[in-house]
Amino acid sequence: MIRGLLFDLDGVIVDTAKYHFVAWQRMAAELGIHFGHEENEQLKGISRVESLERILGWGGIALSPEEKQRWMDQKNAWYLDCIAQMGPDEILPGVSEFLAEARAQGLLIALGSASKNAVPILERIGLLDAFDAIVDGTVVSASKPNPEVFLEGARRLGLLAEECCVFEDAEAGVEAALAGNMYCIAVGNPDHLGAAHRVIQSFVDIPDPAETLLALETL
Ligand code: BG6
Ligand code: MG
Repeated sequence: MIRGLLFDLDGVIVDTAKYHFVAWQRMAAELGIHFGHEENEQLKGISRVESLERILGWGGIALSPEEKQRWMDQKNAWYLDCIAQMGPDEILPGVSEFLAEARAQGLLIALGSASKNAVPILERIGLLDAFDAIVDGTVVSASKPNPEVFLEGARRLGLLAEECCVFEDAEAGVEAALAGNMYCIAVGNPDHLGAAHRVIQSFVDIPDPAETLLALETL
């Protein structure tokens, strides 16, 4: 029986991929590396350091550890500029209602995100209190598809992995959930996310958590 919900942040609760894109593209441009939407797609769910390594790899550029740290700090400063104005209006459709209904139904709720900016983002959009546990990039080191972030989320909720359902928008995140032996509902394009137990376009598709989870368990 599913007792807990684990939510990815970027792309599930808020659409921050467009801001990560702006910041990484600015860095790539300064380094003379091509970086388009296709490349950005491949970085969804991937940690900051792993994202940098991939971009440098695409450009065939080798940097010292100090230079890498400087670019990550610079990229994050540009990203923070982008998200400075973020507010509750940027919460994706149906998410607030789904979270409130899930809590009313007694389900436990955790965040499982690779982002080190998760807490300030949740504060800014007014959803910090919707979570019983927060596991983010400041807590775990292994990048998705490693299941560490979700296993730690389940542990903090006091639940077994098989009692949890993960909501993910990234291929790497779906893989992480499945590797952790959890149910997974993907949010987005079924062409990329077909490995999940179910794919939805948005939370508007599943207004009732209990009904959704029951259907998942009988698959
Ligand atoms: C993930 C995003 O949630 O967090 C990635 O999908 C991002 O694109 C990663 O790189 C790390 O985020 P941050 O905020 O710590 O740079
Ligand atoms: Mg995501």
